[in-house]
Amino acid sequence: MIPQGFIEEVQNKTDIVELISSYLPLRRAGRNFRANCPFHSEKTPSFMISPQKQIFHCFGCQAGGGAVQFVTLYEKVNFPEAVEILAKRLGLEIPYQKQDGINSKLKTNISDVAAEASVFFHQNLLEDKNAKGALAYLLNRGISLDTIKQFRIGYAPGRNTLLDYFRKKNFTIDILEKASLIVSRQESFHDMFNDRVMFPIFDVRGKVLGFGGRIWKDIKEAPKYINSPESPLYSKREHLFGLNFSKDEIIKQDCIIVVEGYLDMIVPYAAGIKNIAASLGTALTPEQAHLIRRYTSHVVLAYDSDKAGQAATLRALDLLLENELKVKVVKLPQGFDPDSLVRKEGRDCFARLIAQREDFFDYKIGVLKNAHDAESIEGKTKITQEIFSTLANLKSEIERYEYIRKLSQALRIKEEIMIDEWRRSHGAKSKNNTYLKSPGTMYKGTKELMPLTEKIIFKFMLNNKKAFPFIKKNLTETDFSSHLARKAASYFFSSGSPDALAAPENLVSGIQDKDLSSFISSIIMDEDIPFDKESFKGSILKLRKNRMSDLRRKVKDQIGEAEAKGDRGKLEDLIAKHDSINKELR
Ligand code: UTP
Ligand code: MN
Repeated sequence: MIPQGFIEEVQNKTDIVELISSYLPLRRAGRNFRANCPFHSEKTPSFMISPQKQIFHCFGCQAGGGAVQFVTLYEKVNFPEAVEILAKRLGLEIPYQKQDGINSKLKTNISDVAAEASVFFHQNLLEDKNAKGALAYLLNRGISLDTIKQFRIGYAPGRNTLLDYFRKKNFTIDILEKASLIVSRQESFHDMFNDRVMFPIFDVRGKVLGFGGRIWKDIKEAPKYINSPESPLYSKREHLFGLNFSKDEIIKQDCIIVVEGYLDMIVPYAAGIKNIAASLGTALTPEQAHLIRRYTSHVVLAYDSDKAGQAATLRALDLLLENELKVKVVKLPQGFDPDSLVRKEGRDCFARLIAQREDFFDYKIGVLKNAHDAESIEGKTKITQEIFSTLANLKSEIERYEYIRKLSQALRIKEEIMIDEWRRSHGAKSKNNTYLKSPGTMYKGTKELMPLTEKIIFKFMLNNKKAFPFIKKNLTETDFSSHLARKAASYFFSSGSPDALAAPENLVSGIQDKDLSSFISSIIMDEDIPFDKESFKGSILKLRKNRMSDLRRKVKDQIGEAEAKGDRGKLEDLIAKHDSINKELR
């Protein structure tokens, strides 16, 4: 566990404006800075940063908090990892405390297990006698020893060698199973990977998340690859294979080549085509698109040229366009994938095809013209519909207009008619496209409605030292009506000293709950919340009144019950109580 004092130190020494400006371009806006929000898609910036208060808040998607929270969202890391990143930036060493929280311990240990397993597999490949065949297989496929080392490619002997080895090193069965290195079968545990070549899957920072294991012998029944399933550590949809190796070159060239398979990434990379990463044979996700956007906005798809590859390309290009990336497509000769092309025809051949990449539009028109007769009315209609459905993903009307023009030329249909057709079929729909459609990675702000009275109370709590004791004396957590307000109140009442509250940035620094930190930043940044004594006192009174009316309702019910039972003594007490409530409410 990281001591709270250290978290505060890190937060205090980090200038949030400087931090965020190292990720995004910022513009001054009065006392604050403004940017396009990196956590949802928008055209007019609603992402604000306050240098005075050292917090950020997006009024569009509600993401918010301090420097640590920014890093958790942007780098997609957990809280301790974000503190670690910031500490590193400052050149500080984290004084870890013992007694880890259960969750973070679990996660660190899974990371440790995965990392150690990658080393175990790698050493096996290089040293184990049983790995000779697997090693020869790799070398035969043109993968050099240097590449094997760089990608930490390994060999899993199976037969429970991993299980035995890790048991001896005091890893628990539980953790090995959570990391999906072992599986339980017939009431006992077994290695997950048996006699396979192992490719570690890294995250962008080079941490091992999971593995892909390939058979190297000709075995018909076995699947070619076995991949680590989802685990607390590895979420498939959020990563691209090889990006940790290629990201610098992707930034430098302002372009990423996206391929399908492990070796489609490794082989071209080793041959010098370095701005490349692999989606690992699954459909691209919005999370991956978002990940790409951190490094470049230009994507070149280089999937297999077969039917499946073509379908995957068409799906991927829609998704990428929808996420505001520019998309081009490389057409590989029949029967080749990037790996076999580089191996058999040479790197320059692949490089040439990359240079000849087609714009997504030309690619899709080409595919459609193959599938439909572009001279027939039916064909023209079909092609138009298909292209329109892709153009609907574009965010820029100018681009869309240009493509609609191109389409009218390609099909030899008058431009005005094509534009009319667009308006008729898609015109109204394409307007509200500002938010990304599948907000998986993006911060999903809580849209909970909170009464203004409650916001006012928090505004005071966060801005006025004297307000806090007063609030604490007069209200309890349950006086707040919304779920979020209760959560915040309970947080403040249990942990907020008046001193901490006077420096909101300190208070925010320790919050791990995204909803809570976004709530606090929104209260601090929202200048529409009244900040005068009258409103404050009125709000407290209002909440107390609410509490009393609730109580009165309860007492009334109890009076009814007592009457029914004929319990005179109780009835008198209750009526007295009712009267005193009434007095207070008057
Ligand atoms: P491919 O079948 O195109 O394999 O699957 P490949 O990458 O060319 O494999 P090599 O060259 O024969 O070694 C592309 C990707 O789909 C996933 C893997 O990520 C693979 O790299 N895949 C494929 C699986 O997960 N399981 C499989 O059984 C097959
Ligand atoms: Mn291949």
